[in-house]
Amino acid sequence: MFMSSKEVNKSRIWKKLERHYKSFRKTEMRDMFKKDPQRAEKFSISLDNLTFDYSKNRINERTMKYLLTLAKERKVAEKIQQMFSGEKINKTENRSVLHIALRNRANTPIYVDGQNVMPKINDVLAKMRKFTEAVRLGEFKGHTGKKLTNIVNIGIGGSDLGPKMAVEALKKYWAKDTNCYFISNIDGTACAEVLNKVDPETTLFIVSSKTFTTIETLTNAKTCRKWLVDALGEHAVAKHFVAVSTNVKEVEKFGINPENMFEFWDFVGGRYSMWSAIGLSIAIAIGMDNFEKMLEGAFAMDNHFKTAPLAENIPVIMALLGVWYNNFFGFKSIAVIPYDQYLQYLPAYLQQLDMESNGKHVSLDNQYIKYSTAPVLFGGAGTDVQHSFFQMIHQGTSIVPCDFIVPAISHNEIGEHHEILLANVLAQGEALMRGKTVKEAVEELKKSGKSKEEIEELKKYKSFPGNRPSNTIVLKKVDPYSLGMLVAMYEHKVFVEGVIWDINSFDQMGVELGKQMALSILPELGGNATGLSHDSSTSRLIELIRKLRK
Ligand code: F6P
Repeated sequence: MFMSSKEVNKSRIWKKLERHYKSFRKTEMRDMFKKDPQRAEKFSISLDNLTFDYSKNRINERTMKYLLTLAKERKVAEKIQQMFSGEKINKTENRSVLHIALRNRANTPIYVDGQNVMPKINDVLAKMRKFTEAVRLGEFKGHTGKKLTNIVNIGIGGSDLGPKMAVEALKKYWAKDTNCYFISNIDGTACAEVLNKVDPETTLFIVSSKTFTTIETLTNAKTCRKWLVDALGEHAVAKHFVAVSTNVKEVEKFGINPENMFEFWDFVGGRYSMWSAIGLSIAIAIGMDNFEKMLEGAFAMDNHFKTAPLAENIPVIMALLGVWYNNFFGFKSIAVIPYDQYLQYLPAYLQQLDMESNGKHVSLDNQYIKYSTAPVLFGGAGTDVQHSFFQMIHQGTSIVPCDFIVPAISHNEIGEHHEILLANVLAQGEALMRGKTVKEAVEELKKSGKSKEEIEELKKYKSFPGNRPSNTIVLKKVDPYSLGMLVAMYEHKVFVEGVIWDINSFDQMGVELGKQMALSILPELGGNATGLSHDSSTSRLIELIRKLRK
């Protein structure tokens, strides 16, 4: 029998985990490491060139046994199969969830409503190859006959964050003469700053929007279109604008020829869409062969996720650790810290993936949820963030489990840079785990020649609580294949957490209310208010802004 969401935190296994947490919560990781020399080996999983070390977590064998029982009782394995077989697991929108089909390199049929989706996916991949090669070779030229070397992706959310993250991550693979830009924010500055840098004759705009109704994207696209038409005339649009969308009608209405449109489908969620034609900017930048390598990396992770036993399944273990900390320890945030400059946009990408997917308060069986769901995800590139929020991670009163991601080999092995970076990432994980006791701090202060009074004064400030969890994910190098693996790993982690929490991770109704209200406030800012029906704060702010803008 499948448990309802009401039963999730009332189930026997949940109660067992609660009791286990109470008896285990004070156990120190440093002691567990001392007692068990095999701990790192026991709690690590490797797949190709990716190793996931989760030994620096507040777990023992019993914890994992109970968490895996929870996964079994929540039917994680069955849900994985349902997703891969095209079942409509996005219940609120009655849709299949098939980002995995976009990278199904084995080309095995996957059916939606009795139709194999693979042929249309392959057709779009072939169209992407033809187009991207033509752009890269300078065969598809701009209106005045010049090569298109400035690629501007106009999109927001899932139509921006994935491509932007991947394009940056794979900068070393860019075609030499290509530059990529991203316009997402409705703030005119976003548009202005990019348009200041590019030349209309050599610029290709990719308007990326699943729905083609998103106000930010359409407004930015209109501004860019006008800029282009002012410079080169109306006929230039066909040579400088392409669209990526599921909505042919709206694309046509906007004035882009459907021949210049790359399609995807409603079974691909926005934040899961970088593998589709939404990745067109990636494919132009790094070439279609490399884009397909990224798909292959994701496919390898998909196969692992689909076939590995739960106990050896990287995304499943990641998700169970997420649940362990969120629901039992009460840790409400997590940090992702890539130690690679090229992965600097990964935390922003994961923020949407995790928080838009699992920031929900109603379960799949239509009940208000009584336990906590998505944590706050934040992060940034190491070592930079060591000099910003790491003080709090080490000594703050809230505990923030961290994911450290690091490639063994850098694309820029200059002098000692990468070894220093590697030493830092390893040191952070160890420092968080071990901490420094007051006694150790006292010893250190003694050695540095401090007086008794000074030691008394400083010893607490200089101590570190430790026992703070982290995962370490080591890649050989940040290349298209490993990036594909890494991103797919997080996608599946988020999915499994959603399954445990009985959430539909694939809708995003929580973004609607703000959008609706913005539409009603818009005319009021211009002075066309028909009687302000807001709270007094909002009304006063509207008045104030009106005055300031006069
Ligand atoms: O923020 C809400 C959202 O619908 C995201 O889920 C999506 O990625 C983004 O807006 C952009 O939507 P679209 O691709 O339809 O323009």
